[in-house]
Amino acid sequence: MAGHELAIVAEGLEKSYREKKALDGLSMTVPSGTVHGVLGPNGAGKTTFVRTLATLLRVKAGRAEVAGIDVRRHPEEVRRRIGLLGQHAALDEDLSGRQNLDLFGRLYHLGTRRAAARADELLERFGLTDTGRRPVKAYSGGMRRRLDLAASFIIDPQVLFLDEPTAGLDPRGRSEVWNAVRSLVGGGTTVLLTTQYLEEADQLADRISLIDHGRVIADGTADQLKAKVGGDRIDVVVRTAGQLQAAAAVLAGVSGGAVDVDEDTRRISAPVADRMTALNHLVRALHDAGIEAEDLAVRRPTLDEVFMRLTGDGGGRPSGVREEESV
Ligand SMILES: Nc1ncnc2c1ncn2[C@@H]1O[C@H](COP(=O)(O)OP(=O)(O)OP(=O)(O)O)[C@@H](O)[C@H]1O
Ligand SMILES: [Mg+2]
Repeated sequence: MAGHELAIVAEGLEKSYREKKALDGLSMTVPSGTVHGVLGPNGAGKTTFVRTLATLLRVKAGRAEVAGIDVRRHPEEVRRRIGLLGQHAALDEDLSGRQNLDLFGRLYHLGTRRAAARADELLERFGLTDTGRRPVKAYSGGMRRRLDLAASFIIDPQVLFLDEPTAGLDPRGRSEVWNAVRSLVGGGTTVLLTTQYLEEADQLADRISLIDHGRVIADGTADQLKAKVGGDRIDVVVRTAGQLQAAAAVLAGVSGGAVDVDEDTRRISAPVADRMTALNHLVRALHDAGIEAEDLAVRRPTLDEVFMRLTGDGGGRPSGVREEESV
C-alpha cells in the first residue's frame, strides 16, 4: 500500500435542495487502504456525500477525486473503480444469491464463464456458499446484506462506498457484516462507510469524520475524538436512588463541569481535568457527605457523548435506536 496516496479527496462540496443545504462546504480526505467512517444523524448529508463521490449526483460547488480521478470530469473512469452499497439495494428477490451475482457479472460484461466463476468466488468470500438455490427473499438480514456486499464487489473496486451497511440488522447480522468489511480491507480496498452507529465507526474505522448539517464538525481517530471533547470522565453509581442528587452535587464540586444523572442506573457522570486528583477528592467528599458509592470508575467519554457535546441537542441523536430503513 502506498501510504501517502489519497483514495478520496473532497473539497468544499456544496449541494442544496431548494433552500435546504444538504452539503455545506464539506471537505474530507481518505488515505488508500483505510476504512473511513462518516458518522452523522438523519439528514446530516451522508447519502448525498456518498452519491456525489459515486458520480450519481452533481454538486453546485467544490471538487472531488476518487482513486485520483475527478468525479465531475471523468465519471465513467471513476465508476469503473468503485463499488457502492446503497441504502436500498437492487437484488432480485426470486433468484438465488448465485444467480444474482451471475447476473451482475454479466451486466458488468465479464462474459458467461468469468461471471459464473466470479459469483462462486464471491459466495465463498462472503460465507454464502451453502445458500444453494434458496431465493434471496428467504435470506436473513445479515445474509442479504452480505450478498449486497458481494454484489458491490463484482469488479473488485479500489474504493468501496457503504451507505449504512448494517441499518436495521440485529446484532448478529451486524457482526457478520463487520467481519465481511474487515476482510475486504486486507485486500487493499479503501472503504468509506456511513453510519449512525457509534459503535460501528469505533469498531471498523481507522478514522472518523463527524458530520452534521452538511459539514464536518470533527474528525480523527475514535480516541482523538474522545480526547477532543475533554479528557476523562468519572462515573459514580450510588447505592440508593435517594442519594443521587446529593452525590451529583458532590461530583459537581469536584468536576466543575456538567453532571449527567441517570436515575434508572443510579449513575452520575462528569468530566474531570486530572483523574487522580479528582478521584481522591471525590472519594473523600462522598465519605464526608455520608454517601455510599456502589461503583466508581474513571473512563474516556463514549462517542455518543462526544457527538452530543459537538452537536448540542438539536441535531438529532445518532444512536443505534433507529428502526429498519424505510423504503
Ligand atoms: N432528493 C432530495 N430532495 C430534497 N431534499 C433532499 C433530497 N435528498 C436529500 N435531501 C435533504 O438533504 C439533506 C441531507 O440528506 P441525506 O439523505 O444526504 O442525509 P443522510 O445523512 O444520508 O440521512 P439518513 O441518515 O436519514 O440517511 C436532508 O435534509 C434531506 O432531507
Ligand atoms: Mg442516508
